[in-house]
Amino acid sequence: MSTLPIPFAEFKSQYATLRLEIDVAIQSVLDAGWFVLGEQGKAFEQEFGAWLAPRSPVIGSGEGVVGVGSGTDAIALGLRALGVGVGDEVVTTPLTAFPTVAAIRQLGAIPVFADIQPETLCLDPEKALERVGPKTKALVPVHLYGQAADLGPLLECGIPVLEDCAQSHGTRWEGRMTGTLGAIAAFSFYPTKNLGAYGDGGAVATSDPELAARVRSLRNYGEGSQRYEHLVEGVNSRLDELQAAILRVKLRHLEVSLARRREIAALYDTLLQGVERPCEAPYSHHTWHLYVIRTDATRRDALRQHLAERGIGTQIHYPIPQNRQPALAHLNQQDTCPVADREAGRILSLPLYPELTDEQIASIAEQVNTFR
Ligand SMILES: Cc1ncc(COP(=O)(O)O)c(C=O)c1O
Repeated sequence: MSTLPIPFAEFKSQYATLRLEIDVAIQSVLDAGWFVLGEQGKAFEQEFGAWLAPRSPVIGSGEGVVGVGSGTDAIALGLRALGVGVGDEVVTTPLTAFPTVAAIRQLGAIPVFADIQPETLCLDPEKALERVGPKTKALVPVHLYGQAADLGPLLECGIPVLEDCAQSHGTRWEGRMTGTLGAIAAFSFYPTKNLGAYGDGGAVATSDPELAARVRSLRNYGEGSQRYEHLVEGVNSRLDELQAAILRVKLRHLEVSLARRREIAALYDTLLQGVERPCEAPYSHHTWHLYVIRTDATRRDALRQHLAERGIGTQIHYPIPQNRQPALAHLNQQDTCPVADREAGRILSLPLYPELTDEQIASIAEQVNTFR
């Protein structure tokens, strides 16, 4: 039987596997007749916190987890809770999804780009610290592709760290769960993520109860404990009940799906030839949100085309480093990150999701290996 075509991402087979549980979860929300800020959201915050940091009294109990509308909002609200505002600087990586930067800009703050490490493609901590100045209010490393960013020097420098964990559910740094290491962390539950909803969703995690309370208020128009009294100018950004109910089901299967991601990455590692395979840094327990190979810059687009012609979907995460986005030309930081510039021209993401079969991975590897 042919294993092709293989789309880059696909959700129908996952739903088919979980259908009974998901349908019951959705029906229970419809039967309860309550859709925003209810029991499902609260239960998800508790269960996600218990999974993320079972021994932390604040995160583990759910007090330190706040469900919000998206990963982008989780970053923006997390930074706002840290006191980041107009004109403040936030040091981050250019090789990330645009939303990392969009969230910083939402606050009127200024992203300051520091270059990446060539091996891991994550923010280079030494270069990040070189970019710190008197206006720096926060650092935003991204655990890119499921690889833990090298946090050591960042955590020690005294400036609050917001971990962008949109791609790193389950990833560990030095044996400790990402999302529990900095002052605050932002998760995305966009459908493609390691833990994905069936729509938009996100969460903030922090072991500081005051920061958590601030985000809890900010996500709900800045309301305090009294209804219709608004203590700060907040926004509307809440994880809705349907998404929370779906995420509760998916969370129960998360460890199995993360293990399958690691299996698939190991299989790619064994089978692929003639391209540079991604590494797992010694301090990182990688969860393979993405499997990103590297080629000669002159051959990347032709390889992508070769795979597309054989029905294999690929993506580039990300073709334009964020400091080079036309929308951010006014920041005048285009030429600050040569390593990101070089690597953005060489990277190619192969399909990786738990539902892929070993035969499909073998077909993809064969097509990569036979490309001349
Ligand atoms: C690294 C990174 N940060 C932030 C986000 C934003 O998450 P969302 O799409 O849920 O707003 C994403 C996902 O798109 C991401 O990959």
